[in-house]
Amino acid sequence: MEGASALGASTTQSIDGAPVVEFRDVSVTYAGKNVTRPAVVGIDLTVPKGSFICVVGPSGCGKSTILHVCSGLLKISNGEFRYLGKEWNKLHPGIGYVTQRETLLPWKTVLGNIALPLKIKGVSRQERREKSEAMAESVGLKDWLNRYPRELSGGMRQRVQLARTLVTDPTLLLMDEPFGALDAVLRVRMQEFLKSRIAGTDLTTIFVTHDLTEALALGDQVVAMAGAPGRVGQISYLDDLPREVSPLELRQSPAYAAHEISLWKTIAGNLSDDGRALSSDVPPGPDLMDEAGPDPACASAQQATGRNA
Ligand SMILES: Nc1ncnc2c1ncn2[C@@H]1O[C@H](COP(=O)(O)OP(=O)(O)OP(=O)(O)O)[C@@H](O)[C@H]1O
Ligand SMILES: [Mg+2]
Repeated sequence: MEGASALGASTTQSIDGAPVVEFRDVSVTYAGKNVTRPAVVGIDLTVPKGSFICVVGPSGCGKSTILHVCSGLLKISNGEFRYLGKEWNKLHPGIGYVTQRETLLPWKTVLGNIALPLKIKGVSRQERREKSEAMAESVGLKDWLNRYPRELSGGMRQRVQLARTLVTDPTLLLMDEPFGALDAVLRVRMQEFLKSRIAGTDLTTIFVTHDLTEALALGDQVVAMAGAPGRVGQISYLDDLPREVSPLELRQSPAYAAHEISLWKTIAGNLSDDGRALSSDVPPGPDLMDEAGPDPACASAQQATGRNA
């Protein structure tokens, strides 16, 4: 498959087959004069190699904070965090991070933007041109190499961002609401594109989105966060969803509806009227849920209310 060969084998190895990412009872507090409580608490999360984890939850529950920790940009305050089985005291190697805000350089062309991380790494001019051109082609932008971001559609700019991230052959791909600004049709196209682009590779992905439909279309697991400070309220394993179908067909699956209702209850049960995360009634951690998930709607209702139904 094109994506597999273009990405190639990762050079960043994990210790003894350890998960790519492990959070154990992690809390994060931002330093600052107005901060009085942690942004996230008690986070337990394991991200196996090759998995695609979607993180959903209301604004302010700590989704971006989780990605910052994974990247090595942000240190945890309590608990244990491991990347590739190790605790690091520097930026984590092998990370590709598509941040919440678009970060293309407007004065650089498509080719220049994609090649930038290779330039920073000191890759030779010839090699970075070859790799960047191949990556641009793989995201369907072969004929746009010399255009500037302002000349591209939103979907094309997203593909440039993705290409710029993948060109470094990351071990872990972090994506923070990458398709949030796109219209519904383009969003579905980009989801299909992303799926096809990483299918057959061993790339591990953590993908943050507000959109449950998107999470269910893309993920192997969906992690629903809630509360402020944020906690993991539920983890849904999506083994029972058909995977070789389009996002529209997927929505017609009965299992899809059960997951959607379950996740929605976990998230919406902890929203204020104006749609923000509430600071009280934080749901219990995933230890209280049935991880096998035969009846996710029931499991979710228990978590949303904090008691057995
Ligand atoms: N640099 C910072 N300094 C202080 N507090 C911060 C900082 N960044 C985030 N926070 C706080 O931490 C909490 C979690 O923020 P975070 O950005 O992780 O949420 P989020 O779930 O990604 O929200 P959104 O969906 O709006 O992007 C919020 O209460 C936020 O105000
Ligand atoms: Mg965010």
